[in-house]
Amino acid sequence: MKSDQMTDTAAKASPSPAAKTGITLKVNGVMRQLEVAPWTSLLDVLREDLDLTGTKKGCDHGQCGACTVLLNGVRINSCLTLAIMHDGAEVTTIEGFAKGEALHPLQEAFIAHDALQCGYCTPGQICSAAGLLKEGRAKSPTHIRELMSGNICRCGAYPNIVAAIEQVMGMKEKGGGQ
Ligand code: FES
Ligand code: FES
Repeated sequence: MKSDQMTDTAAKASPSPAAKTGITLKVNGVMRQLEVAPWTSLLDVLREDLDLTGTKKGCDHGQCGACTVLLNGVRINSCLTLAIMHDGAEVTTIEGFAKGEALHPLQEAFIAHDALQCGYCTPGQICSAAGLLKEGRAKSPTHIRELMSGNICRCGAYPNIVAAIEQVMGMKEKGGGQ
């Protein structure tokens, strides 16, 4: 085989980089236009393209919940979904919870109950708790534990996290400890 034929063959065999696709996401109330590769996770778009690093990458495999955000108001593991699938969607990350200086009630409750230690899992815990509140299925601390079970806290702050969520649900006195 001649060298130019070999070059031709090699060029045909090697995968060409897939074109990026334009999508629009409304992130924390702001419309964002993005060019994304088809394989890019929503998590990577948030962290790498939009510099919203509050959302954490723990396992990148759907096992820890650190990457939880709200997608059209529903909690989702952003590492498990491709950004390209959500053109036109509304995304809320932890950066979208506080309104100016005013913290979200869940943020206040997490502080009041010491529901964070290293804090790495906390953004995902708070986003997940917001999703849980909206779902309206949790009626007891046991339900809260079960419905938050997708969010791992390696520091083991679980009793405090549950107490914080109970407070926001009105099941517990404000800042009432454990
Ligand atoms: S980083 Fe997404 S579930 Fe762990
Ligand atoms: S506060 Fe450290 S992992 Fe949850």
